[in-house]
Amino acid sequence: MAKSDRSPGSYWTASTPRPALPSLERDVTVDVAVIGAGIAGLSTAWELARAGASVAVLEAGRVAEGVTGHTSGKLSALHTLVYARLRRTRGPQAARLYARSQTDAVEHAADVVDLLGIDCAWERSDAYTYTRAERRAGALRSEADAAREAGLPASFVTETGLPFPVAGAVRVRDQAQFHPRRYLLALADDLRARGCEIYEQSPVVGLKEGRPCRVTTASGARVSARDVVVATHYPVFDRALLFARLAVRREFVVAAPIPADRDPQGMYITPEDGTRSVRTTPYEDGRRLLVVTGEKFTPGTGDPAVQAARLEAWAAEHFPGGEPRYVWATQDTFPSDRLPLVGPLHAAARHTYVATGFGGWGLSGGIMAGSLLTALITGREPPPWKNLYDPRRVGPLLRDAPRLLRQQADVARHFVGDRLHSTGPDTPDALPPDSGAVLHLDGRHTAVYRDPDGDLHAVSARCTHLGCLVAFNAEERAWECPCHGSRFATDGQVVQGPATNPLEQRDI
Ligand code: FES
Repeated sequence: MAKSDRSPGSYWTASTPRPALPSLERDVTVDVAVIGAGIAGLSTAWELARAGASVAVLEAGRVAEGVTGHTSGKLSALHTLVYARLRRTRGPQAARLYARSQTDAVEHAADVVDLLGIDCAWERSDAYTYTRAERRAGALRSEADAAREAGLPASFVTETGLPFPVAGAVRVRDQAQFHPRRYLLALADDLRARGCEIYEQSPVVGLKEGRPCRVTTASGARVSARDVVVATHYPVFDRALLFARLAVRREFVVAAPIPADRDPQGMYITPEDGTRSVRTTPYEDGRRLLVVTGEKFTPGTGDPAVQAARLEAWAAEHFPGGEPRYVWATQDTFPSDRLPLVGPLHAAARHTYVATGFGGWGLSGGIMAGSLLTALITGREPPPWKNLYDPRRVGPLLRDAPRLLRQQADVARHFVGDRLHSTGPDTPDALPPDSGAVLHLDGRHTAVYRDPDGDLHAVSARCTHLGCLVAFNAEERAWECPCHGSRFATDGQVVQGPATNPLEQRDI
Protein backbone atom coordinates (compact mmCIF):
# COMPACT_ATOMS: atom_id res chain seq x y z
CA MET A 1 0.00 0.00 0.00
CA ALA A 2 1.36 3.42 -0.92
CA LYS A 3 2.16 5.60 2.06
CA SER A 4 -0.39 8.17 0.92
CA ASP A 5 -3.19 5.54 1.06
CA ARG A 6 -2.77 4.95 4.77
CA SER A 7 -4.85 6.48 7.50
CA PRO A 8 -2.95 9.36 9.04
CA GLY A 9 -4.62 8.75 12.38
CA SER A 10 -4.99 6.02 14.94
CA TYR A 11 -7.04 2.91 14.25
CA TRP A 12 -8.95 3.45 17.51
CA THR A 13 -10.18 6.81 16.29
CA ALA A 14 -10.74 5.75 12.69
CA SER A 15 -12.89 2.78 13.73
CA THR A 16 -15.26 4.63 16.08
CA PRO A 17 -17.91 7.31 15.57
CA ARG A 18 -17.12 10.93 16.45
CA PRO A 19 -20.17 12.16 18.33
CA ALA A 20 -19.97 15.95 18.55
CA LEU A 21 -20.56 17.25 22.05
CA PRO A 22 -21.24 20.91 22.88
CA SER A 23 -18.59 23.35 24.04
CA LEU A 24 -19.03 25.28 27.26
CA GLU A 25 -20.63 28.65 26.50
CA ARG A 26 -22.24 29.55 29.85
CA ASP A 27 -21.29 29.44 33.51
CA VAL A 28 -22.18 26.23 35.35
CA THR A 29 -21.90 24.99 38.93
CA VAL A 30 -21.13 21.36 39.76
CA ASP A 31 -19.63 19.32 42.56
CA VAL A 32 -16.52 18.38 40.57
CA ALA A 33 -14.92 19.75 37.40
CA VAL A 34 -12.69 17.28 35.56
CA ILE A 35 -10.25 18.74 33.05
CA GLY A 36 -9.41 16.22 30.33
CA ALA A 37 -11.57 13.52 28.69
CA GLY A 38 -9.02 10.74 28.35
CA ILE A 39 -8.87 7.53 30.36
CA ALA A 40 -7.91 9.22 33.66
CA GLY A 41 -10.42 12.06 33.35
CA LEU A 42 -13.39 10.00 32.19
CA SER A 43 -12.69 7.17 34.65
CA THR A 44 -12.59 9.69 37.49
CA ALA A 45 -15.74 11.46 36.28
CA TRP A 46 -17.60 8.18 35.90
CA GLU A 47 -16.64 6.92 39.36
CA LEU A 48 -17.67 10.24 40.88
CA ALA A 49 -20.99 10.25 39.04
CA ARG A 50 -21.68 6.73 40.30
CA ALA A 51 -20.97 8.01 43.80
CA GLY A 52 -23.67 10.64 43.30
CA ALA A 53 -21.60 13.73 42.44
CA SER A 54 -22.55 16.18 39.71
CA VAL A 55 -19.63 16.41 37.31
CA ALA A 56 -18.63 18.57 34.34
CA VAL A 57 -15.84 17.30 32.07
CA LEU A 58 -13.92 19.89 30.05
CA GLU A 59 -11.95 18.66 27.04
CA ALA A 60 -9.75 20.90 24.88
CA GLY A 61 -10.27 18.67 21.83
CA ARG A 62 -12.58 15.70 21.36
CA VAL A 63 -13.42 12.90 23.79
CA ALA A 64 -10.81 10.12 23.85
CA GLU A 65 -8.98 11.42 20.81
CA GLY A 66 -5.89 12.67 22.61
CA VAL A 67 -3.37 10.45 24.31
CA THR A 68 -5.81 7.62 25.10
CA GLY A 69 -6.97 7.48 21.49
CA HIS A 70 -3.36 6.88 20.44
CA THR A 71 -2.29 4.17 22.90
CA SER A 72 -1.70 0.51 22.07
CA GLY A 73 -4.77 -0.56 24.08
CA LYS A 74 -2.96 -2.97 26.45
CA LEU A 75 -4.36 -3.29 29.93
CA SER A 76 -1.86 -5.07 32.12
CA ALA A 77 -0.18 -5.08 35.51
CA LEU A 78 3.11 -6.22 33.91
CA HIS A 79 4.89 -2.97 33.11
CA THR A 80 8.09 -3.99 31.34
CA LEU A 81 10.61 -4.30 34.21
CA VAL A 82 9.00 -2.34 37.02
CA TYR A 83 8.91 -4.93 39.81
CA ALA A 84 12.60 -5.71 40.25
CA ARG A 85 13.34 -1.98 40.31
CA LEU A 86 10.53 -1.24 42.78
CA ARG A 87 11.61 -4.07 45.07
CA ARG A 88 15.17 -2.76 44.98
CA THR A 89 14.42 0.96 45.42
CA ARG A 90 11.23 1.00 47.52
CA GLY A 91 11.09 -2.45 49.03
CA PRO A 92 8.79 -5.47 48.59
CA GLN A 93 5.75 -3.77 50.10
CA ALA A 94 5.82 -1.00 47.45
CA ALA A 95 6.08 -3.63 44.71
CA ARG A 96 3.10 -5.48 46.22
CA LEU A 97 1.01 -2.31 46.37
CA TYR A 98 1.90 -1.46 42.79
CA ALA A 99 0.88 -4.93 41.61
CA ARG A 100 -2.36 -4.84 43.60
CA SER A 101 -3.31 -1.38 42.35
CA GLN A 102 -2.68 -2.21 38.70
CA THR A 103 -4.39 -5.60 38.92
CA ASP A 104 -7.32 -3.92 40.62
CA ALA A 105 -7.53 -1.54 37.63
CA VAL A 106 -7.55 -4.39 35.09
CA GLU A 107 -10.28 -6.24 36.98
CA HIS A 108 -12.24 -3.05 37.54
CA ALA A 109 -12.23 -2.40 33.78
CA ALA A 110 -13.51 -5.96 33.23
CA ASP A 111 -16.37 -5.27 35.66
CA VAL A 112 -17.22 -1.99 33.90
CA VAL A 113 -17.28 -3.74 30.51
CA ASP A 114 -19.71 -6.29 31.95
CA LEU A 115 -21.80 -3.76 33.81
CA LEU A 116 -22.32 -1.46 30.82
CA GLY A 117 -22.22 -4.22 28.21
CA ILE A 118 -19.47 -2.40 26.32
CA ASP A 119 -18.59 -3.74 22.88
CA CYS A 120 -14.87 -2.90 22.97
CA ALA A 121 -13.15 -6.02 21.59
CA TRP A 122 -12.30 -7.04 25.16
CA GLU A 123 -9.99 -10.04 25.23
CA ARG A 124 -8.11 -11.76 28.02
CA SER A 125 -4.49 -12.24 27.04
CA ASP A 126 -1.16 -13.10 28.65
CA ALA A 127 1.36 -10.27 28.92
CA TYR A 128 5.07 -10.79 28.25
CA THR A 129 8.24 -8.78 28.72
CA TYR A 130 10.92 -10.45 26.61
CA THR A 131 14.57 -10.21 25.72
CA ARG A 132 16.40 -11.59 22.73
CA ALA A 133 19.80 -11.09 24.33
CA GLU A 134 21.19 -14.01 26.36
CA ARG A 135 23.09 -11.60 28.60
CA ARG A 136 19.79 -10.01 29.71
CA ALA A 137 17.97 -13.25 30.51
CA GLY A 138 19.09 -12.99 34.15
CA ALA A 139 17.37 -9.60 34.48
CA LEU A 140 14.17 -11.14 33.15
CA ARG A 141 14.43 -13.97 35.70
CA SER A 142 14.77 -11.36 38.46
CA GLU A 143 11.76 -9.50 37.13
CA ALA A 144 9.70 -12.71 37.10
CA ASP A 145 10.74 -13.39 40.73
CA ALA A 146 9.92 -9.84 41.79
CA ALA A 147 6.56 -9.82 39.98
CA ARG A 148 5.62 -13.18 41.54
CA GLU A 149 6.70 -11.99 44.98
CA ALA A 150 4.55 -8.90 44.41
CA GLY A 151 1.55 -11.15 43.93
CA LEU A 152 1.23 -11.48 40.16
CA PRO A 153 0.79 -14.85 38.41
CA ALA A 154 4.24 -14.40 36.84
CA SER A 155 6.77 -16.91 35.54
CA PHE A 156 9.99 -16.96 33.55
CA VAL A 157 9.55 -18.68 30.17
CA THR A 158 11.63 -19.22 27.05
CA GLU A 159 8.76 -20.13 24.71
CA THR A 160 6.36 -17.47 23.43
CA GLY A 161 4.01 -17.04 20.48
CA LEU A 162 6.37 -14.56 18.81
CA PRO A 163 7.68 -15.55 15.38
CA PHE A 164 11.31 -15.37 16.57
CA PRO A 165 13.23 -16.98 19.44
CA VAL A 166 13.66 -15.14 22.71
CA ALA A 167 16.36 -15.60 25.34
CA GLY A 168 13.75 -15.29 28.07
CA ALA A 169 10.49 -13.63 29.01
CA VAL A 170 8.37 -12.79 32.01
CA ARG A 171 4.81 -13.99 31.47
CA VAL A 172 1.83 -12.80 33.50
CA ARG A 173 -1.37 -14.67 32.82
CA ASP A 174 -4.83 -13.32 32.19
CA GLN A 175 -4.31 -9.64 31.53
CA ALA A 176 -6.45 -7.84 28.94
CA GLN A 177 -6.50 -5.93 25.67
CA PHE A 178 -9.32 -3.84 24.30
CA HIS A 179 -10.40 -1.01 22.05
CA PRO A 180 -9.70 1.95 24.34
CA ARG A 181 -11.84 4.51 22.52
CA ARG A 182 -14.93 2.32 22.37
CA TYR A 183 -14.55 1.76 26.11
CA LEU A 184 -14.31 5.49 26.76
CA LEU A 185 -17.17 6.46 24.47
CA ALA A 186 -19.37 4.04 26.44
CA LEU A 187 -18.26 5.66 29.70
CA ALA A 188 -19.02 9.08 28.20
CA ASP A 189 -22.52 7.94 27.15
CA ASP A 190 -23.24 6.56 30.59
CA LEU A 191 -21.93 9.71 32.24
CA ARG A 192 -24.28 11.85 30.19
CA ALA A 193 -27.16 9.47 30.91
CA ARG A 194 -26.47 10.15 34.58
CA GLY A 195 -26.94 13.88 33.97
CA CYS A 196 -23.28 14.90 33.83
CA GLU A 197 -22.07 17.15 31.02
CA ILE A 198 -19.04 16.69 28.82
CA TYR A 199 -17.88 19.79 26.98
CA GLU A 200 -15.61 19.36 23.97
CA GLN A 201 -13.49 22.04 22.29
CA SER A 202 -13.40 23.81 25.62
CA PRO A 203 -9.74 24.41 26.49
CA VAL A 204 -9.23 25.52 30.07
CA VAL A 205 -7.10 28.62 30.52
CA GLY A 206 -7.54 29.45 34.20
CA LEU A 207 -7.90 27.73 37.57
CA LYS A 208 -8.56 29.72 40.73
CA GLU A 209 -8.48 27.62 43.85
CA GLY A 210 -10.94 28.47 46.60
CA ARG A 211 -14.37 27.61 47.93
CA PRO A 212 -15.58 27.00 45.33
CA CYS A 213 -12.77 26.60 42.80
CA ARG A 214 -13.31 28.39 39.50
CA VAL A 215 -12.23 27.00 36.16
CA THR A 216 -12.23 29.33 33.16
CA THR A 217 -12.32 28.19 29.55
CA ALA A 218 -11.01 30.00 26.47
CA SER A 219 -14.56 31.16 25.65
CA GLY A 220 -14.70 32.97 29.01
CA ALA A 221 -17.33 30.61 30.45
CA ARG A 222 -16.63 29.41 33.98
CA VAL A 223 -17.25 26.28 36.00
CA SER A 224 -17.64 26.68 39.77
CA ALA A 225 -16.83 23.43 41.54
CA ARG A 226 -16.00 22.27 45.04
CA ASP A 227 -13.26 20.03 43.63
CA VAL A 228 -11.22 20.09 40.43
CA VAL A 229 -9.27 17.25 38.83
CA VAL A 230 -6.49 18.07 36.34
CA ALA A 231 -6.26 15.01 34.08
CA THR A 232 -4.70 16.57 31.01
CA HIS A 233 -1.86 14.07 30.56
CA TYR A 234 0.80 16.73 31.16
CA PRO A 235 -0.76 18.96 33.86
CA VAL A 236 -1.85 22.33 32.45
CA PHE A 237 -1.88 23.79 35.97
CA ASP A 238 1.20 23.09 37.95
CA ARG A 239 1.86 25.04 41.13
CA ALA A 240 3.94 22.15 42.43
CA LEU A 241 6.26 22.41 39.41
CA LEU A 242 5.57 18.80 38.51
CA PHE A 243 6.93 19.58 35.05
CA ALA A 244 10.37 19.53 36.62
CA ARG A 245 9.79 15.86 37.51
CA LEU A 246 8.31 14.68 34.21
CA ALA A 247 10.12 13.66 31.04
CA VAL A 248 8.14 13.32 27.80
CA ARG A 249 8.66 10.64 25.19
CA ARG A 250 6.83 9.97 21.96
CA GLU A 251 6.78 6.76 19.95
CA PHE A 252 5.23 5.43 16.78
CA VAL A 253 2.50 2.86 16.34
CA VAL A 254 2.09 0.82 13.15
CA ALA A 255 -1.05 -1.28 12.56
CA ALA A 256 -1.29 -3.88 9.80
CA PRO A 257 -3.88 -6.63 9.11
CA ILE A 258 -2.45 -10.15 9.40
CA PRO A 259 -4.01 -13.61 8.92
CA ALA A 260 -5.49 -14.94 12.16
CA ASP A 261 -3.06 -17.88 12.17
CA ARG A 262 -0.14 -15.45 12.51
CA ASP A 263 -1.53 -13.98 15.74
CA PRO A 264 1.27 -14.24 18.34
CA GLN A 265 -1.38 -14.88 21.02
CA GLY A 266 -0.28 -12.44 23.65
CA MET A 267 0.79 -8.89 24.44
CA TYR A 268 4.53 -8.42 24.22
CA ILE A 269 7.05 -5.73 25.05
CA THR A 270 10.83 -5.47 25.11
CA PRO A 271 12.87 -2.48 26.21
CA GLU A 272 15.41 -3.38 23.51
CA ASP A 273 15.74 -1.71 20.10
CA GLY A 274 14.11 1.53 21.32
CA THR A 275 11.20 -0.53 22.69
CA ARG A 276 9.00 -2.89 20.70
CA SER A 277 5.46 -3.66 21.82
CA VAL A 278 3.17 -6.09 19.99
CA ARG A 279 -0.51 -6.98 20.32
CA THR A 280 -3.39 -7.75 17.98
CA THR A 281 -7.07 -6.90 17.85
CA PRO A 282 -9.98 -8.31 15.80
CA TYR A 283 -10.12 -6.87 12.28
CA GLU A 284 -12.13 -7.32 9.08
CA ASP A 285 -12.68 -10.65 7.28
CA GLY A 286 -11.58 -12.76 10.24
CA ARG A 287 -8.11 -11.23 10.20
CA ARG A 288 -6.31 -9.67 13.14
CA LEU A 289 -4.87 -6.18 13.21
CA LEU A 290 -1.27 -6.30 14.38
CA VAL A 291 -0.43 -3.24 16.50
CA VAL A 292 3.31 -2.60 16.90
CA THR A 293 4.65 0.26 19.00
CA GLY A 294 8.23 1.52 19.32
CA GLU A 295 11.02 3.94 18.37
CA LYS A 296 10.85 6.27 21.36
CA PHE A 297 11.97 9.86 20.85
CA THR A 298 11.79 13.20 22.64
CA PRO A 299 9.29 15.45 20.84
CA GLY A 300 11.04 18.03 18.69
CA THR A 301 14.23 15.98 18.33
CA GLY A 302 15.66 13.32 16.03
CA ASP A 303 14.25 12.35 12.67
CA PRO A 304 10.72 10.97 13.23
CA ALA A 305 10.29 9.98 9.56
CA VAL A 306 13.33 7.70 9.78
CA GLN A 307 12.10 6.23 13.05
CA ALA A 308 8.60 5.54 11.72
CA ALA A 309 10.15 3.80 8.70
CA ARG A 310 12.38 1.73 11.00
CA LEU A 311 9.36 0.53 12.99
CA GLU A 312 7.49 -0.36 9.81
CA ALA A 313 10.50 -2.31 8.57
CA TRP A 314 10.66 -4.22 11.87
CA ALA A 315 6.96 -5.11 11.66
CA ALA A 316 7.31 -6.20 8.04
CA GLU A 317 10.37 -8.32 8.80
CA HIS A 318 8.79 -10.20 11.69
CA PHE A 319 5.18 -10.32 10.47
CA PRO A 320 5.56 -10.46 6.69
CA GLY A 321 2.59 -9.92 4.39
CA GLY A 322 0.86 -7.34 6.57
CA GLU A 323 0.77 -3.98 4.81
CA PRO A 324 0.57 -1.12 7.34
CA ARG A 325 -2.89 0.44 7.21
CA TYR A 326 -2.48 2.91 10.06
CA VAL A 327 0.53 4.79 11.38
CA TRP A 328 0.29 7.14 14.34
CA ALA A 329 2.25 8.25 17.36
CA THR A 330 1.62 8.24 21.08
CA GLN A 331 3.06 10.40 23.84
CA ASP A 332 3.85 9.51 27.44
CA THR A 333 5.11 11.26 30.55
CA PHE A 334 7.71 9.64 32.78
CA PRO A 335 8.14 10.85 36.39
CA SER A 336 11.71 10.95 37.67
CA ASP A 337 10.99 8.04 40.03
CA ARG A 338 8.83 6.19 37.45
CA LEU A 339 5.71 6.11 39.65
CA PRO A 340 2.52 7.90 38.56
CA LEU A 341 1.54 11.13 40.29
CA VAL A 342 -2.06 10.82 41.49
CA GLY A 343 -3.45 12.89 44.35
CA PRO A 344 -3.48 16.51 45.57
CA LEU A 345 -2.24 19.00 42.99
CA HIS A 346 0.29 20.59 45.35
CA ALA A 347 1.32 20.62 49.03
CA ALA A 348 -1.36 23.11 50.09
CA ALA A 349 -4.14 21.79 47.83
CA ARG A 350 -7.41 20.95 49.57
CA HIS A 351 -9.76 20.63 46.59
CA THR A 352 -7.55 20.29 43.51
CA TYR A 353 -6.11 17.02 42.27
CA VAL A 354 -3.88 15.74 39.51
CA ALA A 355 -3.35 12.47 37.64
CA THR A 356 -0.30 12.25 35.41
CA GLY A 357 3.02 10.48 34.80
CA PHE A 358 1.76 7.04 33.80
CA GLY A 359 5.00 6.20 32.00
CA GLY A 360 3.45 4.46 29.02
CA TRP A 361 0.94 2.46 31.11
CA GLY A 362 -1.85 4.99 31.14
CA LEU A 363 -4.76 2.59 30.69
CA SER A 364 -4.35 0.70 33.95
CA GLY A 365 -2.87 3.85 35.51
CA GLY A 366 -5.80 6.04 34.43
CA ILE A 367 -8.38 3.55 35.71
CA MET A 368 -6.45 3.24 38.98
CA ALA A 369 -6.42 7.06 39.22
CA GLY A 370 -10.19 7.19 38.75
CA SER A 371 -10.81 4.98 41.79
CA LEU A 372 -8.12 6.63 43.93
CA LEU A 373 -9.21 10.23 43.23
CA THR A 374 -12.85 9.34 43.77
CA ALA A 375 -11.99 7.99 47.21
CA LEU A 376 -10.01 11.14 48.06
CA ILE A 377 -12.76 13.48 46.84
CA THR A 378 -15.71 11.67 48.38
CA GLY A 379 -13.96 10.96 51.68
CA ARG A 380 -14.24 7.21 51.30
CA GLU A 381 -11.57 4.95 52.75
CA PRO A 382 -8.69 5.39 50.28
CA PRO A 383 -6.96 2.32 48.87
CA PRO A 384 -3.69 1.26 50.55
CA TRP A 385 -1.64 2.50 47.56
CA LYS A 386 -2.62 6.14 48.15
CA ASN A 387 0.82 7.14 49.47
CA LEU A 388 2.70 5.25 46.75
CA TYR A 389 1.27 7.60 44.13
CA ASP A 390 1.00 10.80 46.19
CA PRO A 391 2.46 13.64 44.06
CA ARG A 392 3.73 15.30 47.26
CA ARG A 393 6.15 12.46 48.01
CA VAL A 394 9.53 13.89 48.89
CA GLY A 395 11.82 11.00 49.80
CA PRO A 396 11.66 9.32 46.40
CA LEU A 397 12.18 12.67 44.73
CA LEU A 398 15.44 13.20 46.61
CA ARG A 399 16.57 9.67 45.89
CA ASP A 400 15.97 10.28 42.22
CA ALA A 401 17.70 13.66 42.20
CA PRO A 402 20.53 12.64 39.85
CA ARG A 403 18.08 11.52 37.17
CA LEU A 404 16.03 14.67 37.77
CA LEU A 405 19.07 16.86 37.35
CA ARG A 406 19.94 15.15 34.08
CA GLN A 407 16.40 15.75 32.83
CA GLN A 408 16.55 19.38 33.84
CA ALA A 409 19.94 19.87 32.19
CA ASP A 410 18.38 18.53 29.01
CA VAL A 411 15.49 20.98 29.32
CA ALA A 412 17.87 23.87 29.99
CA ARG A 413 19.87 22.96 26.90
CA HIS A 414 16.74 23.34 24.77
CA PHE A 415 15.66 26.46 26.64
CA VAL A 416 18.90 28.36 26.15
CA GLY A 417 20.98 26.62 23.51
CA ASP A 418 18.26 26.30 20.92
CA ARG A 419 17.90 30.05 20.79
CA LEU A 420 21.24 30.30 19.05
CA HIS A 421 20.40 28.22 16.04
CA SER A 422 18.24 28.28 12.96
CA THR A 423 17.23 24.80 11.74
CA GLY A 424 16.45 25.55 8.12
CA PRO A 425 17.44 27.66 5.13
CA ASP A 426 18.18 31.37 5.44
CA THR A 427 14.91 32.50 3.86
CA PRO A 428 11.39 31.04 3.61
CA ASP A 429 11.75 31.03 -0.19
CA ALA A 430 14.11 28.10 0.04
CA LEU A 431 11.64 25.92 1.99
CA PRO A 432 10.31 23.07 -0.16
CA PRO A 433 6.55 22.32 -0.18
CA ASP A 434 5.17 20.40 2.80
CA SER A 435 8.13 21.16 5.02
CA GLY A 436 8.82 23.34 8.02
CA ALA A 437 11.80 24.90 9.80
CA VAL A 438 12.65 27.43 12.47
CA LEU A 439 14.18 30.45 10.73
CA HIS A 440 15.91 33.46 12.21
CA LEU A 441 13.96 36.30 10.60
CA ASP A 442 14.35 39.96 11.62
CA GLY A 443 16.15 38.86 14.75
CA ARG A 444 13.34 36.55 15.86
CA HIS A 445 12.92 32.79 15.75
CA THR A 446 10.00 32.06 13.46
CA ALA A 447 8.46 28.66 12.79
CA VAL A 448 7.66 28.58 9.07
CA TYR A 449 5.69 25.86 7.29
CA ARG A 450 5.18 25.73 3.53
CA ASP A 451 2.04 23.72 2.73
CA PRO A 452 1.74 21.40 -0.30
CA ASP A 453 0.15 24.25 -2.31
CA GLY A 454 3.17 26.45 -1.66
CA ASP A 455 1.56 28.83 0.84
CA LEU A 456 3.62 29.88 3.85
CA HIS A 457 2.36 29.79 7.45
CA ALA A 458 4.47 31.56 10.04
CA VAL A 459 4.20 31.57 13.82
CA SER A 460 6.54 32.37 16.68
CA ALA A 461 8.88 29.48 17.45
CA ARG A 462 8.70 30.28 21.15
CA CYS A 463 6.59 27.70 22.99
CA THR A 464 3.83 29.40 24.96
CA HIS A 465 4.39 27.13 27.98
CA LEU A 466 7.80 28.27 29.22
CA GLY A 467 9.51 29.62 26.14
CA CYS A 468 11.65 26.80 24.70
CA LEU A 469 11.97 26.72 20.92
CA VAL A 470 9.76 24.32 18.99
CA ALA A 471 10.98 22.10 16.15
CA PHE A 472 9.18 20.63 13.15
CA ASN A 473 8.11 16.98 13.10
CA ALA A 474 7.97 16.25 9.37
CA GLU A 475 6.35 12.85 9.82
CA GLU A 476 3.36 14.23 11.73
CA ARG A 477 3.42 17.81 10.42
CA ALA A 478 3.46 19.44 13.82
CA TRP A 479 5.57 21.86 15.83
CA GLU A 480 6.89 20.12 18.93
CA CYS A 481 8.53 21.46 22.05
CA PRO A 482 11.41 19.35 23.35
CA CYS A 483 11.15 20.73 26.90
CA HIS A 484 7.81 19.37 28.11
CA GLY A 485 6.22 17.99 24.96
CA SER A 486 3.69 20.66 23.95
CA ARG A 487 2.61 20.18 20.35
CA PHE A 488 1.13 22.68 17.92
CA ALA A 489 -0.51 22.40 14.50
CA THR A 490 1.16 24.09 11.53
CA ASP A 491 -1.09 27.12 12.13
CA GLY A 492 0.11 27.33 15.73
CA GLN A 493 -3.01 25.94 17.46
CA VAL A 494 -2.36 23.79 20.51
CA VAL A 495 -2.60 20.08 19.79
CA GLN A 496 -1.22 18.89 23.11
CA GLY A 497 -0.30 20.66 26.37
CA PRO A 498 1.01 21.64 28.82
CA ALA A 499 0.83 24.80 26.67
CA THR A 500 -2.68 26.25 26.62
CA ASN A 501 -2.15 29.16 24.23
CA PRO A 502 -1.39 28.94 20.51
CA LEU A 503 1.91 30.03 19.01
CA GLU A 504 1.80 33.72 18.14
CA GLN A 505 1.04 34.48 14.49
CA ARG A 506 3.81 36.18 12.48
CA ASP A 507 3.67 38.15 9.23
CA ILE A 508 6.50 37.35 6.87
FE1 FES B 1 7.28 23.60 28.31
FE2 FES B 1 7.39 24.07 25.74
S1 FES B 1 6.30 22.56 26.70
S2 FES B 1 8.43 25.12 27.29
